[in-house]
Amino acid sequence: MKKLLLIEGNGVAGEDLIDAAREHGAEVHVATHQDLYEKYRPELIAKTAGVVLTDFSAPEAAVAQLAGYCADTGISGVICGWEFLSPVATKLAAAAGLPGNDPARADACRNKRLMSLAFEEYGVPAPATLVVDSLDSALDRIAERGFAFPLVVKPAENAGSVGVTVVEAADGLAAAFRLATSQPMEIPHRIALETTVVIQEYVEGREFSVETIVFEGKFHHLAVTEKFTTTGATRAEIGHTTPADLDPADRDALVGAAEQALVALGFHNGVAHAEIKLTPGGRAKVIEVGARPPGDHILKLVRHATGVSEARAYVQVALGEEPTVDGDRSAAAAIRFLAPDRAGTVRRIGPVPDSPAVLASTWYVGVGDQVDHALDNATRLGFVMLTAATAAEVNALADEIVHAVQVEIG
Ligand SMILES: Nc1ncnc2c1ncn2[C@@H]1O[C@H](COP(=O)(O)OP(=O)(O)O)[C@@H](O)[C@H]1O
Ligand SMILES: [Mg+2]
Repeated sequence: MKKLLLIEGNGVAGEDLIDAAREHGAEVHVATHQDLYEKYRPELIAKTAGVVLTDFSAPEAAVAQLAGYCADTGISGVICGWEFLSPVATKLAAAAGLPGNDPARADACRNKRLMSLAFEEYGVPAPATLVVDSLDSALDRIAERGFAFPLVVKPAENAGSVGVTVVEAADGLAAAFRLATSQPMEIPHRIALETTVVIQEYVEGREFSVETIVFEGKFHHLAVTEKFTTTGATRAEIGHTTPADLDPADRDALVGAAEQALVALGFHNGVAHAEIKLTPGGRAKVIEVGARPPGDHILKLVRHATGVSEARAYVQVALGEEPTVDGDRSAAAAIRFLAPDRAGTVRRIGPVPDSPAVLASTWYVGVGDQVDHALDNATRLGFVMLTAATAAEVNALADEIVHAVQVEIG
């Protein structure tokens, strides 16, 4: 039986990956940190064949230790289930001689400073970017480059919109800078995060993600998904719809930009989640790319909309097999996250109206819980997942159902 090593199984895509690997006939081993392993659900542990505990705060030592585990255990593929650990997964696959991406560009798939350099080098369409390490130098560099507000200020190495601010004028820079540098450590693996700050021109327009499987350098774009975020100074993701409601020229522009970005970042064998904005004039600009499966249950949306299991395709390429990328369905699926409109105590939440369109719904909080205002993805109340025949239909249904859910915060 083939054996896979999953780098962190406790993320939102972890169980989908484990299930897909098992259905594909592979055995799954998991690499995680002791503190997080203690929080694994017993049902998840029951699905794994082995566990290796690692200290990811020392990434080089972790790669060496895990390469030893791969050799001793006969692992024949490495997959990544946690965004912050994609560089470790890529470097490990290379060290163990297993299918993966270019290890020299592994950090550029995570670190937005390095990513912007790679995009510049390869001419990938992306927002104009500058990188600074102090507020004073930020003001000088913004003037030097002639950047005009609004600007986006974000940490080089965080995720989930944490520390990201859209700044309307120079007097907002200091607070944005503080926010961007306020979380220098990833929890729970205690990975030190670079504290440089990335400043970008603000790109107007709708936002999308392109989900791609790469096998021996060939790109298979499984879906283009529309992403919905809060507006204003902070951008929490509040929903996704697969496929995006797009005309073919715009879809081509997005897929073309995603391919350019994946070439720049050294993708050969793996999975990619590329976030891209489309300007009102139809130009694609790549915001970021992850060498990992999408979060927010987008794997499930892709499956419902196309019939393709992106998780299985990722497992296949990690094992060096031709991926199954042809779907047997043409429908649409959506997820919407409910976000609080202010901080306070939850007085009432739900229920979700009965509808055959609803695939699943979950609340993360209950009556009596304290909630924060929606600054980033961590302050969500729960989600509803739906399906319909087309993107337009599922978007309309999602609006209806979200409006019908009663949430009171007092
Ligand atoms: N240059 C930009 N122009 C417009 N919006 C942006 C820009 N950069 C980030 N955003 C918005 O902020 C969100 C989070 O930023 P992103 O760079 O993806 O960071 P994270 O790694 O936290 O997801 C994006 O999904 C997008 O909505
Ligand atoms: Mg992002």
